[in-house]
Amino acid sequence: MKTFALVLLLVAPATALLPDLLDKLWPEEEHGVFSGVAKIPYKDLLNDNSYVDPFLLQSMKTYGFFYVVDVPEYSAALEHDYMKQFYDLDEDVKDELAIRRHNPANKNAYRGYCPGLDDVENTLQYKNLYNIGPHETRGASVESEDVMEKLRYDCQEPNVWPETGNCTFHKGFKETFQAGFEIRRNIGRAFIRSIARAMNYPNLPALFAEDEFSAMGLRKYPIRKKINSNMYSDFDGTLLRELEHIDSTVTVLSTFNNGGLEILHKNQYRAVPVTGENSFIVNIGKLVDDLIDNKVPAVRHRVAEVDFDRYSITYFLGPQFDANIARSMSGKLTDAGQKYTIFGEWIKDYLGAIELFYY
Ligand SMILES: *[C@@H]1O[C@H](CO)[C@@H](O)[C@H](O)[C@H]1NC(C)=O
Repeated sequence: MKTFALVLLLVAPATALLPDLLDKLWPEEEHGVFSGVAKIPYKDLLNDNSYVDPFLLQSMKTYGFFYVVDVPEYSAALEHDYMKQFYDLDEDVKDELAIRRHNPANKNAYRGYCPGLDDVENTLQYKNLYNIGPHETRGASVESEDVMEKLRYDCQEPNVWPETGNCTFHKGFKETFQAGFEIRRNIGRAFIRSIARAMNYPNLPALFAEDEFSAMGLRKYPIRKKINSNMYSDFDGTLLRELEHIDSTVTVLSTFNNGGLEILHKNQYRAVPVTGENSFIVNIGKLVDDLIDNKVPAVRHRVAEVDFDRYSITYFLGPQFDANIARSMSGKLTDAGQKYTIFGEWIKDYLGAIELFYY
């Protein structure tokens, strides 16, 4: 890898193209401690242009994340606007889309609107969520008594979309987020292919061939009126909007122009430059990290308290339902493997937790 970067540097002055390329992948000091984080052009990532692989891997190893930039026909501002309009709808309109734990009249268990908990104990995790998945319809229901077959069916829960009197809004909202879902899914899968090439794990992409359980979450972290002692970081005492944690699968994140995200780097939480109008942050969580033999970090992160309603969009790409998650690419037993064989079994417990806590 070092040799590769060095070769590029040495030949860069010879062509007009390469300095440009380097600037994109290793941008200048504008972002301080994270100035070396790779910015990978969307098209090159999607087209399996393998020059991106070592940059992507190096960025993942050093910082635990990278940016995807230059996404054609994408507007973060439009998404942000629609998301805000959705959250500004009357509470009874949103209730029609609420998960059944919140509104027992509804069928949807986890796609749709999940209002935040507003009680004192849970204030640290106070957020509203609107969950969008890959399915608009699902197949015929299964009669089987088999728990896993039932779960496979449950995993295909179709999306619910707002139906307001304003056709411009609900048509635009649905189209915008269906397109946004595709872009993020493309990024997630192309990332898996790239890291599989870079690490020489040819069997990795097959684990992600289907994405029954991928989820995009439109999140609103409302301004808090109350502050109590459990909102402060145990690590360094900072007042937080979201607890320090690591993710589980592959994350594609939009922070728009909303600050607050901090990533642990060299034992210190540091502000992460926002994704702005046309980029995404990609990182991995524990489950995927274990699958690739923990050769890159599943990075710890958190959201510091900010004095405005904060909107963000997460997208999580998990392995397919039948993927064996018990063994890493080199054949080692994973943490998940202590308890589960396939990803579907992992989902079962995860969904059980949602029934208890939303998420
Ligand atoms: C209808 O929705 C559009 C797009 O979301 C919005 O710009 C417009 O203000 C809405 N009209 C009304 C009457 O709410």
